[in-house]
Amino acid sequence: MKRTQSNNRLIQWIDERLPVFSYADHNVLAYPTPKNLNYWWNYGSIAGIVLVIMIVTGIFLAMNYQPHTDVAFASVERIVRDVNYGWLLRYLHMNGASMFFIVVYIHMFRGIYFGSYKAPREILWMVGVTIYVVMMATAFMGYVLPWGQMSFWGATVITNLFSAIPIIGDYIVTWVWGGFSVDVPTINRFFVWHYLLPAIILGLVIVHLWALHVHKSSNPLGIDIKTPQDMMPFHPYYTIKDLYGLGLFMIFFMYFVFFQPNFFGEADNYIPANPMVTPPHIVPEWYFLPFYAILRAIPDKLGGVVVMFAGVLILYVLPWLDTSKVRSATFRPIYKQLFWLFVANCLFLGWLGGKPTEGVYVIMTRLATGYYFAFFLVLMPLVGRLEKTKPLPNSIYEEVAKKCRAKED
Ligand code: HEM
Repeated sequence: MKRTQSNNRLIQWIDERLPVFSYADHNVLAYPTPKNLNYWWNYGSIAGIVLVIMIVTGIFLAMNYQPHTDVAFASVERIVRDVNYGWLLRYLHMNGASMFFIVVYIHMFRGIYFGSYKAPREILWMVGVTIYVVMMATAFMGYVLPWGQMSFWGATVITNLFSAIPIIGDYIVTWVWGGFSVDVPTINRFFVWHYLLPAIILGLVIVHLWALHVHKSSNPLGIDIKTPQDMMPFHPYYTIKDLYGLGLFMIFFMYFVFFQPNFFGEADNYIPANPMVTPPHIVPEWYFLPFYAILRAIPDKLGGVVVMFAGVLILYVLPWLDTSKVRSATFRPIYKQLFWLFVANCLFLGWLGGKPTEGVYVIMTRLATGYYFAFFLVLMPLVGRLEKTKPLPNSIYEEVAKKCRAKED
């Protein structure tokens, strides 16, 4: 029985025994996709490509890296200076981490704007949040590996947060460190986790796509697919659109790799770690700054830690906090404004996270933290119930046809 669209006899022979080609036909080539996806739907596939780049460059870096406090810093310098194309591997990996977060943040904000987390895609969203949490852990441990000043002090400050937990806090910190300070066992275990977690992310991405393929992609109108006319095959329409987006993204990515490789980094991390000298400002990588700001907004250590983790974990319950029956913000005039204010507020929190905790910065950080939580806990549930939404279109197909006619006129 012929399962694939291909007439090639070898492909058919393999497919009868291991249906990889018919699987690809079904899930990639002929995969039914809404007709109206815009460029905000490119970021999922771009994230997938960045993940692959991170894993491949990471494997080659690991062939030359030494996870020991005596030589870790020097081994990274050796990679950059002496290993063939080591500079390229390191700059791809280093900037790739920032790119990964940029792409995933856009992907998440897209989800929040278009209500992609709403039924029946709650589990898809929650798997996404788990990917994000594991990404943060991976990035945190990766940053410790070059063993510069920021690596050491960042690791010391952040792991110390666990000591705020009553009774068992100090035990947890010693357990995480593998000793009584950030030292040889710490860097060694962080290297192990940093190598292992991306494989877990890859597994989670497979589950993410599995969940996506059950109900298929949502779309900018947020209305359900009703007839086959609303859809078109993924290939060639979205393969080409994704490739175009990927090309633009790669230009952006490569600009940093080749022209500004240290743009996202901290100069202090080019000083070897020194437990006897504390840098004047200990700042995490930019992608953690909003949460670092939230941590410092609360005057109490334990309170700060709890609120900071709550800031991430609240994303899990988003599908239930948003009470609106309408998915897309396109038809929600009030929510749309609040959403953009939320985006600006996140950027503002990020900026504040890099500022010292003094004077007016403290007040601004508290206000921004207040809006962050109010958006999820107060505004989303209330606006969802009270807002008067705009009328929804009848079908995706009608909207697409209307746009095409408008272009022709
Ligand atoms: C390694 C990281 C990730 C990869 C590779 C990935 C991959 C993808 C892909 C390929 C899609 C389909 C195309 C698209 O809609 O852009 C998608 C959809 C989606 N992703 Fe992700 N994703 C990642 C992380 C996340 C995170 C962190 C979240 C949320 C916290 C998330 C939530 C979603 C949602 C809700 C959809 C469905 C969107 C819709 O159809 O409207 N993803 N993802």
